[in-house]
Amino acid sequence: MPLDEYSFFEKIRKRTKLERKIESEVFDRNVLLTIVFMMDHKFVSTVDFPISKGKEAYVFRTSKGDKLKGKKRNNADPEFAALKIYMIETSHFRHMQDYIRGDPRFRKVSHSKQQIVYEWTRKEFRNLKLCNEAGVHVPEPYYFKDNTLLMDYIGDEEGNPAPSLKKVGPPDPKKNFKQIVTDMKKMYSIGLIHGDLSEYNILVKDGKLFIIDVGQSVLLDHPMAEEFLHRDVKNIINYFSKYGVKADFEKVMKEIKGKE
Ligand SMILES: Nc1ncnc2c1ncn2[C@@H]1O[C@H](COP(=O)(O)OP(=O)(O)OP(=O)(O)O)[C@@H](O)[C@H]1O
Ligand SMILES: [Mg+2]
Repeated sequence: MPLDEYSFFEKIRKRTKLERKIESEVFDRNVLLTIVFMMDHKFVSTVDFPISKGKEAYVFRTSKGDKLKGKKRNNADPEFAALKIYMIETSHFRHMQDYIRGDPRFRKVSHSKQQIVYEWTRKEFRNLKLCNEAGVHVPEPYYFKDNTLLMDYIGDEEGNPAPSLKKVGPPDPKKNFKQIVTDMKKMYSIGLIHGDLSEYNILVKDGKLFIIDVGQSVLLDHPMAEEFLHRDVKNIINYFSKYGVKADFEKVMKEIKGKE
């Protein structure tokens, strides 16, 4: 059913509690249409509040619609879902282009800013799906379209978003370090390298760590793959060493690559 301009905006406004400023920055007509689609298809019932405004994207907490409600998968929240909306104008699209260019799954990428951001969103969805299927602790994705991505919400009992590892530190450093190395190993086994792994892109929930922000993750045959893996491993070892975890770089590399 086509919506006229007035009812279109009324419909979305009634179900969002957001400030006008945010609305105009990320909620362009196309994004609003996608949200209305997600509401009509009962993926989402309301857009609740922004959790974060990152360099490339806004992330919102949404309440799940009837279709997704009650689904509790891999510690994911039964009530809420996270909606990530990439900004088209302000995204670092040149930097994005480099990651996409080396990826054979995205050979036919056009050069428009919008297309690159759309490809990036598709890439994050696919990477999340692959990781989730391999048992990596990531939010499972539900749906994506253009620059929007709907995924599991990592939050607490009261519906607050889970804090980053940077913010709260590891609840059990040794165990958490082991989990992350195992997750990196699982990613490697399906041919993926995170590429931006650090305490900023890990959330802490119920003593477990969840890896997020896999839009830039690359395949093993990406020209920079080995370099990214080195950097990820170094970041993780360095971070956990502050909490008394001792680990040898070469050994961890071997473990991730399945040679030990
Ligand atoms: N699935 C999720 N559940 C709960 N919170 C989330 C989820 N995904 C992202 N967030 C929150 O949003 C923040 C930004 O997400 P993300 O890192 O994916 O986006 P980004 O644009 O790359 O941001 P940044 O540039 O700050 O890294 C996270 O640090 C986290 O607080
Ligand atoms: Mg991030």
